[in-house]
Amino acid sequence: MTITTIQRTRLAYDLITQVFGPERNFASEYPLIFDPSFQGSLIGLEEADEVVSACAILPRDLVLNGWLMRIGMIGTVATADEHRGKGYAGQLLREAEKNLFCEGAVLSILWADDAAFYEKKGYIPIGCEVDYALSVTDSGKLPTSEGVRWMETRDHAAMHALYVRHSHRVDRTLAETSTLLHGPEIAGLVHEENGEVVSYALMGRGQDLQGVVHEWAGSSKNVLACLRAYLDNLSEGSDSIFLMCPVTAVDLRKDLLELEIPAIEGVLAMARVLDMQGMAKIYQRFGDPRLRTATDEEALRLTGPKGSIVLDRRQALLGTCPPQGKRSLLEVIEKETGIRFDGMPLSPFIWGLDSI
Ligand SMILES: CC(C)(COP(=O)(O)OP(=O)(O)OC[C@H]1O[C@@H](n2cnc3c(N)ncnc32)[C@H](O)[C@@H]1OP(=O)(O)O)[C@@H](O)C(=O)NCCC(=O)NCCS
Repeated sequence: MTITTIQRTRLAYDLITQVFGPERNFASEYPLIFDPSFQGSLIGLEEADEVVSACAILPRDLVLNGWLMRIGMIGTVATADEHRGKGYAGQLLREAEKNLFCEGAVLSILWADDAAFYEKKGYIPIGCEVDYALSVTDSGKLPTSEGVRWMETRDHAAMHALYVRHSHRVDRTLAETSTLLHGPEIAGLVHEENGEVVSYALMGRGQDLQGVVHEWAGSSKNVLACLRAYLDNLSEGSDSIFLMCPVTAVDLRKDLLELEIPAIEGVLAMARVLDMQGMAKIYQRFGDPRLRTATDEEALRLTGPKGSIVLDRRQALLGTCPPQGKRSLLEVIEKETGIRFDGMPLSPFIWGLDSI
Protein backbone atom coordinates (compact mmCIF):
# COMPACT_ATOMS: atom_id res chain seq x y z
CA MET A 1 0.00 0.00 0.00
CA THR A 2 1.39 3.39 -0.93
CA ILE A 3 0.54 6.41 1.13
CA THR A 4 1.15 9.74 -0.51
CA THR A 5 0.87 13.22 0.92
CA ILE A 6 -1.29 15.79 -0.76
CA GLN A 7 -1.71 19.45 0.01
CA ARG A 8 -4.71 21.75 -0.30
CA THR A 9 -7.24 19.54 -2.06
CA ARG A 10 -10.99 19.35 -2.11
CA LEU A 11 -10.79 15.71 -0.96
CA ALA A 12 -8.99 16.68 2.25
CA TYR A 13 -11.62 19.34 2.89
CA ASP A 14 -14.41 16.84 2.27
CA LEU A 15 -12.90 14.39 4.75
CA ILE A 16 -12.58 17.08 7.44
CA THR A 17 -16.21 18.11 6.86
CA GLN A 18 -17.35 14.50 7.02
CA VAL A 19 -15.52 13.86 10.32
CA PHE A 20 -16.46 17.10 12.11
CA GLY A 21 -19.97 17.34 10.65
CA PRO A 22 -21.50 19.49 7.89
CA GLU A 23 -22.70 22.08 10.43
CA ARG A 24 -19.12 23.32 10.80
CA ASN A 25 -18.26 25.79 8.04
CA PHE A 26 -14.47 25.57 8.24
CA ALA A 27 -13.91 27.70 5.15
CA SER A 28 -15.49 30.71 6.86
CA GLU A 29 -14.22 29.85 10.38
CA TYR A 30 -10.59 29.51 9.27
CA PRO A 31 -10.08 31.82 6.30
CA LEU A 32 -6.31 31.88 6.77
CA ILE A 33 -6.32 28.16 5.88
CA PHE A 34 -8.96 27.99 3.20
CA ASP A 35 -8.50 31.29 1.36
CA PRO A 36 -5.52 30.73 -0.97
CA SER A 37 -4.35 34.32 -0.51
CA PHE A 38 -3.22 33.41 3.02
CA GLN A 39 -0.47 31.13 4.31
CA GLY A 40 -2.37 28.12 5.64
CA SER A 41 -2.96 24.84 3.84
CA LEU A 42 -4.39 21.36 4.17
CA ILE A 43 -2.33 18.21 4.38
CA GLY A 44 -3.82 14.86 3.53
CA LEU A 45 -2.71 11.24 3.42
CA GLU A 46 -3.95 9.41 0.38
CA GLU A 47 -4.37 5.67 -0.02
CA ALA A 48 -5.62 4.29 -3.33
CA ASP A 49 -6.88 7.72 -4.46
CA GLU A 50 -8.84 8.16 -1.26
CA VAL A 51 -7.90 10.72 1.41
CA VAL A 52 -7.81 8.76 4.66
CA SER A 53 -6.50 11.38 7.08
CA ALA A 54 -6.23 15.17 6.85
CA CYS A 55 -5.41 18.30 8.85
CA ALA A 56 -4.80 22.03 8.49
CA ILE A 57 -1.47 23.78 9.02
CA LEU A 58 -0.67 27.46 9.44
CA PRO A 59 2.77 28.99 10.00
CA ARG A 60 2.64 32.15 12.16
CA ASP A 61 5.03 34.46 13.96
CA LEU A 62 4.52 34.92 17.69
CA VAL A 63 5.38 38.38 18.99
CA LEU A 64 7.03 38.16 22.42
CA ASN A 65 7.84 41.62 23.69
CA GLY A 66 9.06 42.83 20.31
CA TRP A 67 10.84 39.57 19.51
CA LEU A 68 9.48 37.15 16.87
CA MET A 69 9.30 33.36 17.15
CA ARG A 70 8.00 31.34 14.23
CA ILE A 71 5.62 28.57 15.15
CA GLY A 72 3.28 26.34 13.17
CA MET A 73 -0.31 25.64 14.14
CA ILE A 74 -2.02 22.33 13.40
CA GLY A 75 -5.79 21.98 13.47
CA THR A 76 -8.79 19.85 12.49
CA VAL A 77 -6.90 16.54 12.57
CA ALA A 78 -9.25 13.90 11.16
CA THR A 79 -9.08 10.26 10.07
CA ALA A 80 -11.96 8.62 8.20
CA ASP A 81 -13.96 6.35 10.52
CA GLU A 82 -13.10 3.15 8.69
CA HIS A 83 -9.35 3.92 8.72
CA ARG A 84 -8.87 4.73 12.40
CA GLY A 85 -6.32 2.99 14.58
CA LYS A 86 -3.93 2.29 11.69
CA GLY A 87 -1.45 4.99 12.66
CA TYR A 88 -2.57 7.42 9.93
CA ALA A 89 -3.10 10.46 12.19
CA GLY A 90 0.35 9.89 13.66
CA GLN A 91 1.86 9.75 10.18
CA LEU A 92 -0.11 12.82 9.16
CA LEU A 93 1.13 14.80 12.17
CA ARG A 94 4.74 14.02 11.24
CA GLU A 95 4.02 15.22 7.65
CA ALA A 96 2.39 18.38 8.96
CA GLU A 97 5.38 18.97 11.26
CA LYS A 98 7.86 18.46 8.38
CA ASN A 99 6.01 21.07 6.34
CA LEU A 100 5.98 23.53 9.22
CA PHE A 101 9.67 22.90 9.92
CA CYS A 102 10.39 23.78 6.27
CA GLU A 103 8.44 27.02 6.81
CA GLY A 104 10.84 27.84 9.64
CA ALA A 105 8.66 26.87 12.60
CA VAL A 106 10.52 26.09 15.83
CA LEU A 107 7.43 24.52 17.45
CA SER A 108 4.16 23.02 16.33
CA ILE A 109 1.19 24.10 18.42
CA LEU A 110 -2.32 22.69 18.63
CA TRP A 111 -5.43 22.67 20.81
CA ALA A 112 -6.54 19.20 21.74
CA ASP A 113 -10.05 18.03 22.50
CA ASP A 114 -8.38 14.95 23.87
CA ALA A 115 -4.88 15.59 25.21
CA ALA A 116 -4.07 11.87 25.64
CA PHE A 117 -3.96 11.29 21.88
CA TYR A 118 -1.44 14.08 21.30
CA GLU A 119 0.62 13.19 24.37
CA LYS A 120 1.26 9.84 22.70
CA LYS A 121 2.53 11.77 19.68
CA GLY A 122 5.05 13.76 21.73
CA TYR A 123 2.99 16.87 22.55
CA ILE A 124 3.03 18.52 25.98
CA PRO A 125 1.01 21.37 27.52
CA ILE A 126 2.79 24.73 27.29
CA GLY A 127 2.33 28.33 28.36
CA CYS A 128 -0.26 30.04 30.44
CA GLU A 129 -3.74 31.41 29.96
CA VAL A 130 -5.67 33.11 32.74
CA ASP A 131 -9.45 32.80 32.55
CA TYR A 132 -12.21 34.53 34.48
CA ALA A 133 -15.87 33.65 34.85
CA LEU A 134 -18.05 36.75 35.18
CA SER A 135 -21.68 36.40 36.08
CA VAL A 136 -24.59 38.83 35.70
CA THR A 137 -24.24 39.63 39.36
CA ASP A 138 -20.75 41.06 38.63
CA SER A 139 -22.17 43.57 36.13
CA GLY A 140 -22.76 46.29 38.75
CA LYS A 141 -19.08 46.17 39.78
CA LEU A 142 -17.92 47.06 36.27
CA PRO A 143 -17.65 50.53 34.70
CA THR A 144 -20.74 51.74 32.84
CA SER A 145 -21.03 50.59 29.24
CA GLU A 146 -21.83 54.05 27.90
CA GLY A 147 -20.15 54.46 24.50
CA VAL A 148 -20.05 50.70 23.84
CA ARG A 149 -21.66 49.53 20.58
CA TRP A 150 -21.50 46.55 18.20
CA MET A 151 -18.46 46.55 15.91
CA GLU A 152 -18.81 47.43 12.24
CA THR A 153 -16.48 46.82 9.30
CA ARG A 154 -15.37 50.46 9.43
CA ASP A 155 -13.91 49.77 12.92
CA HIS A 156 -11.50 47.07 11.75
CA ALA A 157 -8.50 49.38 11.20
CA ALA A 158 -8.88 50.97 14.64
CA MET A 159 -9.30 47.54 16.24
CA HIS A 160 -6.18 46.28 14.50
CA ALA A 161 -4.23 49.32 15.73
CA LEU A 162 -5.31 48.43 19.30
CA TYR A 163 -4.51 44.73 18.80
CA VAL A 164 -0.90 45.36 17.73
CA ARG A 165 -0.24 47.18 21.00
CA HIS A 166 -0.31 43.83 22.80
CA SER A 167 3.22 42.81 23.76
CA HIS A 168 2.36 39.10 23.36
CA ARG A 169 0.33 38.05 20.35
CA VAL A 170 0.43 36.54 16.87
CA ASP A 171 1.83 38.91 14.28
CA ARG A 172 -1.05 39.86 11.97
CA THR A 173 -1.55 42.19 9.06
CA LEU A 174 -4.58 44.49 8.93
CA ALA A 175 -5.93 42.37 6.05
CA GLU A 176 -5.67 39.24 8.22
CA THR A 177 -7.34 40.92 11.20
CA SER A 178 -10.16 42.21 9.02
CA THR A 179 -10.68 38.83 7.33
CA LEU A 180 -10.76 37.08 10.72
CA LEU A 181 -13.20 39.68 12.10
CA HIS A 182 -15.59 38.81 9.26
CA GLY A 183 -15.70 35.23 10.60
CA PRO A 184 -19.00 33.63 11.62
CA GLU A 185 -20.81 34.22 14.91
CA ILE A 186 -18.38 36.72 16.38
CA ALA A 187 -20.12 39.16 18.71
CA GLY A 188 -17.75 42.13 18.59
CA LEU A 189 -18.09 45.25 20.74
CA VAL A 190 -16.18 48.49 20.44
CA HIS A 191 -15.98 51.29 22.97
CA GLU A 192 -15.99 54.74 21.43
CA GLU A 193 -14.85 57.94 23.12
CA ASN A 194 -14.99 61.29 21.31
CA GLY A 195 -15.50 59.49 18.00
CA GLU A 196 -12.46 57.26 18.51
CA VAL A 197 -12.48 53.49 19.14
CA VAL A 198 -10.56 53.09 22.41
CA SER A 199 -11.18 49.42 23.14
CA TYR A 200 -12.86 46.34 21.75
CA ALA A 201 -13.81 42.82 22.78
CA LEU A 202 -14.79 39.74 20.80
CA MET A 203 -17.01 36.91 22.01
CA GLY A 204 -17.59 33.62 20.15
CA ARG A 205 -16.20 32.39 16.88
CA GLY A 206 -18.05 29.83 14.75
CA GLN A 207 -18.93 26.84 16.90
CA ASP A 208 -15.99 27.56 19.18
CA LEU A 209 -15.68 29.99 22.03
CA GLN A 210 -19.39 30.72 22.44
CA GLY A 211 -19.83 32.80 25.59
CA VAL A 212 -16.05 33.33 25.73
CA VAL A 213 -14.44 36.76 25.32
CA HIS A 214 -11.33 35.52 23.54
CA GLU A 215 -9.82 38.73 22.28
CA TRP A 216 -9.85 42.27 23.54
CA ALA A 217 -7.63 45.36 23.51
CA GLY A 218 -7.51 48.85 24.96
CA SER A 219 -7.19 50.11 28.51
CA SER A 220 -8.43 47.89 31.31
CA LYS A 221 -11.28 50.25 32.26
CA ASN A 222 -12.56 50.39 28.69
CA VAL A 223 -12.34 46.61 28.23
CA LEU A 224 -14.30 46.16 31.47
CA ALA A 225 -16.99 48.45 30.03
CA CYS A 226 -17.29 46.07 27.05
CA LEU A 227 -17.59 43.11 29.45
CA ARG A 228 -20.40 44.90 31.23
CA ALA A 229 -22.21 45.35 27.92
CA TYR A 230 -21.93 41.59 27.25
CA LEU A 231 -23.29 40.79 30.72
CA ASP A 232 -26.16 43.26 30.33
CA ASN A 233 -27.10 41.75 26.96
CA LEU A 234 -26.83 38.02 27.70
CA SER A 235 -29.23 35.86 25.77
CA GLU A 236 -31.93 34.07 27.68
CA GLY A 237 -30.69 30.97 29.49
CA SER A 238 -27.12 32.15 30.04
CA ASP A 239 -26.00 34.08 33.08
CA SER A 240 -22.22 34.26 32.72
CA ILE A 241 -19.35 34.82 30.32
CA PHE A 242 -15.72 33.71 30.29
CA LEU A 243 -12.80 36.00 29.68
CA MET A 244 -9.44 34.83 28.31
CA CYS A 245 -6.33 36.76 29.32
CA PRO A 246 -2.59 36.48 28.76
CA VAL A 247 -0.54 36.34 31.94
CA THR A 248 1.11 39.58 30.73
CA ALA A 249 -2.19 41.56 30.91
CA VAL A 250 -1.13 42.98 34.25
CA ASP A 251 -3.54 45.95 34.45
CA LEU A 252 -6.69 44.02 33.63
CA ARG A 253 -5.70 41.17 35.93
CA LYS A 254 -5.05 43.62 38.76
CA ASP A 255 -8.44 45.28 38.25
CA LEU A 256 -10.22 41.92 38.20
CA LEU A 257 -8.43 40.94 41.41
CA GLU A 258 -9.62 44.17 43.04
CA LEU A 259 -13.15 43.39 41.84
CA GLU A 260 -12.77 40.01 43.59
CA ILE A 261 -13.30 38.04 40.40
CA PRO A 262 -11.09 34.95 40.82
CA ALA A 263 -8.55 33.93 38.21
CA ILE A 264 -8.47 30.41 36.83
CA GLU A 265 -4.96 29.57 35.66
CA GLY A 266 -4.69 27.18 32.74
CA VAL A 267 -2.30 26.31 29.94
CA LEU A 268 -2.13 27.91 26.50
CA ALA A 269 -1.97 24.90 24.17
CA MET A 270 -0.02 21.72 23.43
CA ALA A 271 3.24 21.83 21.53
CA ARG A 272 6.20 19.83 20.23
CA VAL A 273 9.67 21.06 19.29
CA LEU A 274 10.35 20.85 15.55
CA ASP A 275 13.73 22.52 15.42
CA MET A 276 16.35 21.91 18.13
CA GLN A 277 18.70 24.47 16.58
CA GLY A 278 15.90 27.01 16.81
CA MET A 279 15.53 26.11 20.49
CA ALA A 280 19.28 26.54 20.99
CA LYS A 281 18.97 30.07 19.58
CA ILE A 282 16.26 30.90 22.13
CA TYR A 283 18.45 29.76 25.04
CA GLN A 284 21.36 31.65 23.49
CA ARG A 285 19.29 34.83 23.23
CA PHE A 286 18.17 34.81 26.86
CA GLY A 287 21.28 33.28 28.46
CA ASP A 288 24.40 35.30 29.15
CA PRO A 289 27.23 35.31 26.55
CA ARG A 290 29.16 32.54 28.33
CA LEU A 291 26.53 29.99 27.23
CA ARG A 292 27.64 27.42 24.63
CA THR A 293 25.09 25.26 22.81
CA ALA A 294 25.38 22.10 20.72
CA THR A 295 22.49 20.27 19.10
CA ASP A 296 21.55 17.21 17.16
CA GLU A 297 18.04 16.26 16.10
CA GLU A 298 17.02 14.95 19.50
CA ALA A 299 19.29 16.65 22.03
CA LEU A 300 20.34 20.13 23.06
CA ARG A 301 23.46 20.52 25.21
CA LEU A 302 23.80 23.72 27.19
CA THR A 303 27.21 24.44 28.67
CA GLY A 304 28.17 27.22 31.06
CA PRO A 305 30.91 27.96 33.61
CA LYS A 306 29.57 25.39 36.09
CA GLY A 307 28.94 22.50 33.70
CA SER A 308 26.60 21.04 31.08
CA ILE A 309 23.06 19.79 30.85
CA VAL A 310 21.52 17.82 27.99
CA LEU A 311 17.86 18.41 27.18
CA ASP A 312 15.59 16.31 24.98
CA ARG A 313 12.85 17.93 22.86
CA ARG A 314 10.35 17.85 25.69
CA GLN A 315 12.74 19.33 28.24
CA ALA A 316 13.93 22.00 25.79
CA LEU A 317 10.30 23.11 25.57
CA LEU A 318 9.64 22.82 29.31
CA GLY A 319 12.56 25.18 29.95
CA THR A 320 11.36 27.86 27.53
CA CYS A 321 7.53 27.72 27.60
CA PRO A 322 6.57 25.61 30.64
CA PRO A 323 2.92 25.07 31.52
CA GLN A 324 1.68 27.98 33.67
CA GLY A 325 5.11 29.61 33.46
CA LYS A 326 6.60 27.32 36.14
CA ARG A 327 10.33 27.94 36.37
CA SER A 328 11.36 24.67 38.01
CA LEU A 329 13.24 23.10 35.08
CA LEU A 330 14.83 26.44 34.20
CA GLU A 331 16.16 26.65 37.75
CA VAL A 332 17.80 23.23 37.35
CA ILE A 333 19.33 24.39 34.04
CA GLU A 334 20.62 27.57 35.70
CA LYS A 335 22.09 25.59 38.59
CA GLU A 336 23.82 22.99 36.40
CA THR A 337 25.26 25.46 33.88
CA GLY A 338 25.82 28.53 36.06
CA ILE A 339 24.05 30.62 33.40
CA ARG A 340 21.09 32.85 34.24
CA PHE A 341 18.24 33.07 31.77
CA ASP A 342 16.64 36.42 32.52
CA GLY A 343 13.43 37.00 30.56
CA MET A 344 12.67 33.28 30.51
CA PRO A 345 10.41 31.42 30.60
CA LEU A 346 8.69 33.01 27.63
CA SER A 347 5.02 33.92 27.86
CA PRO A 348 3.65 33.08 24.42
CA PHE A 349 0.02 34.03 23.90
CA ILE A 350 -2.35 33.32 21.06
CA TRP A 351 -5.61 35.28 21.05
CA GLY A 352 -8.77 33.39 20.17
CA LEU A 353 -9.09 34.83 16.68
CA ASP A 354 -5.79 33.22 15.70
CA SER A 355 -6.40 29.64 16.80
CA ILE A 356 -7.18 26.94 14.24
C1 LIG B 1 -8.19 11.37 16.77
C2 LIG B 1 -8.06 10.75 15.38
C3 LIG B 1 -7.57 11.82 14.41
C4 LIG B 1 -7.04 9.61 15.45
O1 LIG B 1 -6.82 9.12 14.14
P1 LIG B 1 -6.13 7.68 13.87
O2 LIG B 1 -5.66 7.70 12.46
O3 LIG B 1 -7.02 6.62 14.29
O4 LIG B 1 -4.90 7.81 14.86
P2 LIG B 1 -3.62 6.87 14.88
O5 LIG B 1 -4.00 5.52 14.30
O6 LIG B 1 -2.45 7.57 14.33
O7 LIG B 1 -3.37 6.78 16.40
C5 LIG B 1 -4.18 6.04 17.13
C6 LIG B 1 -3.45 5.92 18.43
O8 LIG B 1 -3.91 6.96 19.25
C7 LIG B 1 -4.70 6.39 20.26
N1 LIG B 1 -5.86 7.23 20.33
C8 LIG B 1 -6.75 7.52 19.38
N2 LIG B 1 -7.67 8.35 19.86
C9 LIG B 1 -7.31 8.58 21.15
C10 LIG B 1 -7.87 9.36 22.15
N3 LIG B 1 -8.98 10.05 21.95
N4 LIG B 1 -7.22 9.38 23.34
C11 LIG B 1 -6.11 8.68 23.56
N5 LIG B 1 -5.55 7.93 22.61
C12 LIG B 1 -6.14 7.89 21.43
C13 LIG B 1 -5.00 4.99 19.84
O9 LIG B 1 -5.18 4.16 20.94
C14 LIG B 1 -3.72 4.65 19.08
O10 LIG B 1 -2.68 4.40 19.98
P3 LIG B 1 -1.41 3.51 19.56
O11 LIG B 1 -0.73 4.26 18.48
O12 LIG B 1 -0.60 3.42 20.80
O13 LIG B 1 -2.00 2.22 19.10
C15 LIG B 1 -9.38 10.15 14.88
O14 LIG B 1 -9.89 9.31 15.89
C16 LIG B 1 -10.44 11.18 14.53
O15 LIG B 1 -10.53 11.62 13.38
N6 LIG B 1 -11.26 11.58 15.52
C17 LIG B 1 -12.32 12.56 15.31
C18 LIG B 1 -11.76 13.96 15.11
C19 LIG B 1 -10.95 14.40 16.29
O16 LIG B 1 -11.34 14.26 17.44
N7 LIG B 1 -9.77 14.98 15.97
C20 LIG B 1 -8.87 15.54 16.95
C21 LIG B 1 -9.28 16.95 17.15
S1 LIG B 1 -8.27 17.76 18.29
